[in-house]
Amino acid sequence: MTQHVLLKGRDKMDTPATTAVLDALLDPVLLLDSNKSIVAANPSARDLLGNQIKGRSLALAIRDPEVLDAVNEVLGGGDQQQIGISLMGPFRRNFDIQVASLAKTAESSAGAILIMHDMTATRNAEQMRADFVANVSHELRSPLSSLVGFIETLRGAARDDEAARDRFLDIMDSESKRMARLIDDLLSLSKVEANEHILPEGKVNIGELIADVSNTLFARAAERQIKIDLSTTSSPLFVPGDRDELTEVFHNLIDNAVKYCPDQTLVRIGIEEVARIPQIGGAGIVISVADEGDGIPAEHLPRLTERFYRVDKGRSRKMGGTGLGLAIVKHIVNRHRGRLSVDSTIGAGTVFRVYLPNEKTDAINP
Ligand SMILES: Nc1ncnc2c1ncn2[C@@H]1O[C@H](COP(=O)(O)OP(=O)(O)O)[C@@H](O)[C@H]1O
Ligand SMILES: [Mg+2]
Repeated sequence: MTQHVLLKGRDKMDTPATTAVLDALLDPVLLLDSNKSIVAANPSARDLLGNQIKGRSLALAIRDPEVLDAVNEVLGGGDQQQIGISLMGPFRRNFDIQVASLAKTAESSAGAILIMHDMTATRNAEQMRADFVANVSHELRSPLSSLVGFIETLRGAARDDEAARDRFLDIMDSESKRMARLIDDLLSLSKVEANEHILPEGKVNIGELIADVSNTLFARAAERQIKIDLSTTSSPLFVPGDRDELTEVFHNLIDNAVKYCPDQTLVRIGIEEVARIPQIGGAGIVISVADEGDGIPAEHLPRLTERFYRVDKGRSRKMGGTGLGLAIVKHIVNRHRGRLSVDSTIGAGTVFRVYLPNEKTDAINP
């Protein structure tokens, strides 16, 4: 069935009334005459396709044969068309385009209307979800294949070889623990994501919490002669927050500092009050975790909190990492309406800072 969109004008399509309607629409919209020339374009369309597109041929404004085919179909009396296209610019954008015919009226000749709906964010989210599933499957598959392989070896070739058996069982032990850690991290991540819009309950003595977390990591650090130094204010500082989640945040950050820095170095943890949290405002406290590691190249910094993103995959694996720690940290800090920052200097070390507001606020930070 042919759908007609009626837009009344005096003698042309781009009358003041039509222009007012088009300008109010956030999606890019073009009106075309029967020769496929652009008769009117709203501001969104001009932003996207260029300021001078009025009067131009559609073929020059959108160089996509599918769009022309759809417009030809509609102008030839066919049904309303819906197509998806990608436009390349500084970055790729995906649009769903709807083309409908405009009936000839007493005041204007027949033509077509082309409405563009930006689907980039939706497509990116779909892609991220698909990548995540692929990543999880891959991350679970490799320890699983290793377990399956060793079970086979233990049943066969290594059956009566006691030394090999012990070695293989050790590997199986660490591979199964890796799977367990991955599943724990995935569950943590999905829990914080689901709760991110709900403010955490409770009040936490942050100095005490960080001292507890450091204690659990002292022994591991000492094995490599790494010292953990904690300096805090003389009087206790309290912040609104969820004790278990904040424990997870600082466990991840201090664990990373210890994991990724060389032997015989120092991990410094500082707790201070701040009058204004950068970018989000309001008073709060800042906890810094600084290491003397090799530092992280600048191009990686913005991506560290992506799930499964690692600067050095092999190293992270060897250290038993899941690649989810900082993603969990980011979501928990967001839930607390706080802020996470990272500064790194090659050859000198990395500082992660967590800012937590003193008061409960509702504003979610980007
Ligand atoms: N303190 C640090 N020094 C150097 N690199 C770090 C540090 N913290 C995190 N990274 C890098 O960020 C990546 C992501 O960290 P994270 O999400 O905790 O995953 P992982 O399980 O690998 O530790 C790590 O693999 C590592 O490459
Ligand atoms: Mg980690």
